[in-house]
Amino acid sequence: MIHHEIRKASTADASALSTLIQDAVRVSNSRDYNQAIIELICANFALDRVIEKMEQRDVFVAASDCVVVGTVSLGQGKLHSLFVAPEHQGGGIGRRSVEYLERHAVGKGLSELWLSSSITAKPFYTKLGYELVHFEERPDGSTFLMKKPLL
Ligand SMILES: CC(C)(COP(=O)(O)OP(=O)(O)OC[C@H]1O[C@@H](n2cnc3c(N)ncnc32)[C@H](O)[C@@H]1OP(=O)(O)O)[C@@H](O)C(=O)NCCC(=O)NCCS
Repeated sequence: MIHHEIRKASTADASALSTLIQDAVRVSNSRDYNQAIIELICANFALDRVIEKMEQRDVFVAASDCVVVGTVSLGQGKLHSLFVAPEHQGGGIGRRSVEYLERHAVGKGLSELWLSSSITAKPFYTKLGYELVHFEERPDGSTFLMKKPLL
């Protein structure tokens, strides 16, 4: 397993984050969403939008040898934007990023964590203890609203 650290993102990470997220969306989410939706999701993570989100949310990066390999965020009681670079998926970075964010949320006084899962990530979140609240059909990509109590 390659060692990586999870730390707060800085604006210096924004460009790498935008590239990583768009890459993960194009490679991994294309199985479950049509091309028009994939492009909508990618546009939502263009560089300026990533910088904007950094101002509104607590954004973290998983980095290995200074290379950003994953990201996750907390905003308004929800876990947002969990992405692992395609070539690093399946190595535990997603799990450790979620566990890190859960500890961060507890530190901020949250007693439960909510998220909107992609179709792609639903089995992953189920494995990590998240329960389905309801299915949300949205023009920019259908998601599953899920939550987990934090203790
Ligand atoms: C979903 C994602 C974040 C998971 O990250 P990852 O680093 O590949 O996941 P991990 O290696 O930490 O996997 C943790 C566990 O979940 C399981 N898992 C991961 N993806 C899975 C899937 N699609 N289906 C079933 N199980 C899955 C793993 O087998 C592992 O199980 P184990 O601990 O028993 O071995 C990553 O695949 C990704 O970026 N996907 C594309 C983007 C996306 O959909 N993000 C979520 C937006 S809401």
